[in-house]
Amino acid sequence: MRRTLIVGNWKMNLDLQSARQLLNELCEGMESIAADDSLDVAVCPPHTLLFPIAKATADTPIHFGAQNLFHEPSGAFTGEISASMIAETGARYVILGHSERRHTIGHLEDDRMINLKVRAALAGGLTPIVCVGETLAERNTGETPDVLTFQIAADLVGVSQADVAKLVIAYEPVWAIGTGKVATADQAQQAHEHIRTRLRDQFDSAADTIPILYGGSMKPDNAGELIAQRDIDGGLIGGASLKAEPLLGIIRAALAARG
Ligand code: PGA
Repeated sequence: MRRTLIVGNWKMNLDLQSARQLLNELCEGMESIAADDSLDVAVCPPHTLLFPIAKATADTPIHFGAQNLFHEPSGAFTGEISASMIAETGARYVILGHSERRHTIGHLEDDRMINLKVRAALAGGLTPIVCVGETLAERNTGETPDVLTFQIAADLVGVSQADVAKLVIAYEPVWAIGTGKVATADQAQQAHEHIRTRLRDQFDSAADTIPILYGGSMKPDNAGELIAQRDIDGGLIGGASLKAEPLLGIIRAALAARG
């Protein structure tokens, strides 16, 4: 069975003090949740918090990752940060291709750039959490499967069979992110199944080991139904990861759903 993964995407939120407090509360809460070796929990803070979060999560069950990287190893790239700089902090994960970077923030990222970043992450020993998902307009015109097919193929060019063990995909319908509108369990399962099939085209049966997370307004009260779906292996959580109680609620729901 695939491992379940719950990842908090803090985006551009929390200062050092509130991050430390949140991690303390999370650790305390996780002590009272039955230990389960098949579930991993991670948080992805802003880059400036990576080293202190490494310290704060040492000797705890919580892993951490970054929210972006630049694909070049070093050089004159003012304001950017490389895979090896992130790996040096002890981070395990890096979120790539998030819809806010594809559609909202300044220099919009296309799939060619996301692919360069995915390859740089893998070469640097990080696990990329590769985000894909359709906009509302694309869903309304029935393009969701084509968008997902294109993004998966383009983002994973050159990713080899040997990389599969270090690959996580997140399905994040753009219309559900930060909007309170969550995909129904059926809509999400259909998209995840489609992604899994496309992954099989590239990686054969090894595709069945790749965790596919759902992201977009996941909360304690909808997480269970989503994670109970056959191809939904966890969550990438924004808003509900900024406080311990909702994140713990999602972890509990995930454990109950995966039984
Ligand atoms: P949300 O964000 O949970 O606040 O919708 C999810 C994400 O952007 O990863």
